[in-house]
Amino acid sequence: MALHHLIYQSQAMVPFEQPELAALLQRSRNFNRIHHITGLLLYTPDGRFMQVLEGEQAVVRNLYFNRIVADPRHYNCRVIANGPGLQRCFTDWTMDFRSATALDLRHLLGNVPPDIPGLQVPRPRTCPELLELLLEFVASGAPEPWLEALPS
Ligand SMILES: Cc1cc2nc3c(=O)[nH]c(=O)nc-3n(C[C@H](O)[C@H](O)[C@H](O)COP(=O)(O)O)c2cc1C
Repeated sequence: MALHHLIYQSQAMVPFEQPELAALLQRSRNFNRIHHITGLLLYTPDGRFMQVLEGEQAVVRNLYFNRIVADPRHYNCRVIANGPGLQRCFTDWTMDFRSATALDLRHLLGNVPPDIPGLQVPRPRTCPELLELLLEFVASGAPEPWLEALPS
């Protein structure tokens, strides 16, 4: 099976509270488990999502383009990275979840201005770079306590 990674960001139509996030995760995990999709979902308090989907190429593309993009609960879906990968990064998770801040997202995406303007031009992350940063981000913080009640 050729492994594929797709990373995108989007904006929630209406901010999600914890029960909506839990319901979204539970439904996603059920589908993802059956279709061997793993990944990570980040959510910021101002309603932005960033998600990593990893799995077989056709399955990942079908999930993203036919289901997720069509979901009326969010808009402005923009693919950040989309390509083959050597191995899964979120092996244990049918969809891991972390809260993030708007600054976390800017940092992850590589568009935080440098400390001394003019010395360094921010550039978009490559897919492996972004995955590595996302893994560090997940390892650096504790999961939300309410996640424990959900099946992984
Ligand atoms: C930000 C976001 C991330 C989502 N991630 C997934 C996902 O990883 N897997 C999944 O099956 N559905 C995911 N969904 C839900 C799908 O968009 C869609 O609602 C769902 O697949 C429909 O399932 P149903 O036809 O069984 O109701 C996500 C939705 C949003 C808004």
